[in-house]
Amino acid sequence: MKGLILSGGAGTRLRPITHTSAKQLVPIANQPILFYGIRDMADAGITDIGIVISPATGDEIRSAVGDGSDFGVTVTWIEQPEPLGLAHAVLVARPYLLDDEFVMYLGDNMLEQGLASFVERFDAARRHVPSPHGDETLVGAPSAQILLAKVNDPSSFGVADIDTEGRVIGLVEKPDDPPSDLALVGVYLFDASIHEAIENLQPSERGELEITDAIQALLNSGRVVHHEILSGWWIDTGKKDPLLECNRLVLDTIERRVEGAVDASSVVDGRVVIESGARVVNSTVRGPAIIGQDTVVEDAHVGPYSSIGRDCRIERSEVDNTVVLPGAVVSDIPRLTDSLIGRDTIIRRGNARSRAVRVMIGDNCHVEVE
Ligand code: TTP
Repeated sequence: MKGLILSGGAGTRLRPITHTSAKQLVPIANQPILFYGIRDMADAGITDIGIVISPATGDEIRSAVGDGSDFGVTVTWIEQPEPLGLAHAVLVARPYLLDDEFVMYLGDNMLEQGLASFVERFDAARRHVPSPHGDETLVGAPSAQILLAKVNDPSSFGVADIDTEGRVIGLVEKPDDPPSDLALVGVYLFDASIHEAIENLQPSERGELEITDAIQALLNSGRVVHHEILSGWWIDTGKKDPLLECNRLVLDTIERRVEGAVDASSVVDGRVVIESGARVVNSTVRGPAIIGQDTVVEDAHVGPYSSIGRDCRIERSEVDNTVVLPGAVVSDIPRLTDSLIGRDTIIRRGNARSRAVRVMIGDNCHVEVE
């Protein structure tokens, strides 16, 4: 089985970060989101992986992932000229996928449970389905398997319609009147029949080839689609607040490791990682938190659920529930919370006594000042 990770897309909901960088490389506990997906694939025994990239951010993703050997996988790069939908990404990947079965994974999604059991179930269902004719081993076998999660607001997702016997009978994208509260999670298993379904698709109202429409076409042609309901958490990190939530969930699983220097007047409390070359001076770091390589935390308090990237400077400030990308400086800020700070950004309190705010700020930023 092959793997297909979708790491193109426009990333409009994560601007301004995505003006300059790929959203799949935004760090969760100081590791790019995409790396978790690659590792999950490798853990499920999938080592032949195609990664779909866009012309805008493809090079950055390529250089972050390399040839895949760090993960024990082989990577094939697939450029999608325009983000014309998830099913369009599969269309573009066809020369790589050939007629092989594959697991498709959205590169900005993260799930707690890993992929191994999901893949094993599909494999078992396809290999061991009893055939009424005795010879065609795949009669009645699933052509696809989808992963579903219970959500509170199904209208914002692709939603599955399941009949009383637990069979998938339909899929609808962002329905006004959802048939269930079961949303499609960004992981799918397909056999080669998905390609025919995609070739016959028309773009949706938003101009994309939708994977939900392709799966619906499989159902319409009488193919069997299996489903599994997710047990652990699942997060689509394509927006700031879910991204921070994902960072919290992953930080909750880290183990304490202090390799950087902590001076005698500092307190490092709980599950904290201080990477090598980092310095904590006259400060408190309260876990779960991670301080990146060569970062300096001085006269500061880094509170729970903070991931501070490498080469940052946090001084005379209090930071919590925040992801700070490499090279940023936070200086004299009484409290920075619930924030995502881009690379090489400077946030500091000015000297003036007035309550003026001075900024040089990019497009599509969000700033809350009190
Ligand atoms: P989305 O988050 O659905 O789309 P997007 O990346 O365009 O973001 P936004 O809606 O904020 O503009 O995409 C899910 C994943 O699939 C993500 O990793 C990007 C990837 N993707 C592609 O590779 N090609 C595509 O054509 C699309 C739409 C998404």
